[in-house]
Amino acid sequence: MTHRVLTGITTTGTSHIGNYVGAIRPAIEASRRPGVQSFFFLADYHALIKCDEPARVERSRIEIAATWLAAGLDPERVVFYRQSDIPEITELTWLLTCVTAKGLMNRAHAYKAASDVNVAAGEDVDAGVTMGLFSYPILMAADILMFKAHHVPVGRDQVQHIEMARDIAQRFNHLYGRGRELFVLPGAVIDEQLATLPGLDGRKMSKSYDNTIPLFDGGAPALQAAIARIVTDSKLPGEPKDPDASHLVTIHDAFADPAERTALRDALRDGLGWGEAKQRVGARIEQALGPMRARHAELVAHPERIEQILLEGAAKARAIAGPFLAELRDAVGLRPMVAVAAPAVAKKAAKAAALPEFKQYKEGDAFYFKLVAADGRLLLQSRPFAQGREAGQWVGKLKSGGAQALADAPVTFGDGVAATEVGHALNDLSMERLQTR
Ligand code: TRP
Repeated sequence: MTHRVLTGITTTGTSHIGNYVGAIRPAIEASRRPGVQSFFFLADYHALIKCDEPARVERSRIEIAATWLAAGLDPERVVFYRQSDIPEITELTWLLTCVTAKGLMNRAHAYKAASDVNVAAGEDVDAGVTMGLFSYPILMAADILMFKAHHVPVGRDQVQHIEMARDIAQRFNHLYGRGRELFVLPGAVIDEQLATLPGLDGRKMSKSYDNTIPLFDGGAPALQAAIARIVTDSKLPGEPKDPDASHLVTIHDAFADPAERTALRDALRDGLGWGEAKQRVGARIEQALGPMRARHAELVAHPERIEQILLEGAAKARAIAGPFLAELRDAVGLRPMVAVAAPAVAKKAAKAAALPEFKQYKEGDAFYFKLVAADGRLLLQSRPFAQGREAGQWVGKLKSGGAQALADAPVTFGDGVAATEVGHALNDLSMERLQTR
């Protein structure tokens, strides 16, 4: 079976060597393996969430597309496209939005981080939070689910979003799949070894720490200058150094073969000065990146070539997305209007009859709940409660506890309804709850 791998790159800046080593290079290598179908895309709708500077978004799309192509992405093998060229993705986002619990989004890291800061600062919890930021994981779920990706290689910070995509997919499958798996449940892949290239200061290389080494920006001089700023200990030339305590060595290793790795370690143990070691590391990385940088510059000088490649990618992506979306629209009931055959309707009603429903309501000053079978018969009737919460708590208990919770519940059975029927109904409901988790 083909193994589908999908990943998106938010187009808000340029890449650093941590992105290259941790994401771009392994993704391209994986895309060359037999039996793998890769989908790589520019997440430019996501870029709009973080960035309201059109020129920056425009520039970054060109930069990042050129980076992936220069790094060896083969657009013949990989479906390489812009998210914003696939209108089916925004449409799917809405279908998913309609089945996504708001509570799930409340827990998303990006939103929580923003709202925690607001609360700590004594501001309104949602100050400065757009619906784009809040719903960000749903758009991402649409990206992933549209192409039935099995694996989504991402950084640690994105793992929660993949889990949310799984949750949303499960819920949609349950509601609309009628026994079929409409969506494939995706898994996150984090490569522990690769995921964290250290930055200049030894912490994870990241724009937010301002400790990055640019991949192409500024050319070879900027590369060498950044490497010169890598923090080392203060041992002098001639003093033996511990190569395994140095992140200069870790950065070197990401570009070197085993023999070169050993050679640098030996030299450091023999007293090679840090200045000279940095020259060596810089030269080695330049050797790897120089030819790529030239290809990158060539592409950036000819954005129309990139445009062409991306349009071809979009055509391939839409050839998949279009028919799948049609299937999904049909599944939710957005169908061409034709005479609906009576038996089909009856069948659907029978299917819906499988599960009874709790209803809570207020009459006068009192709160009540009842359990109604799908055919409309009253199964259970509660006594009146002074507080709506009390009624709600009993419903919760009955839903999760199944027939066992019935024993001490303040309810009476509907006319002619047998306790066993209600017990079965409650058990079905509690099973259903488990499955929809
Ligand atoms: N949110 C991801 C990031 O910032 C980018 C992204 C968007 C993505 N859609 C995706 C990654 C789908 C994987 C799959 O890194």
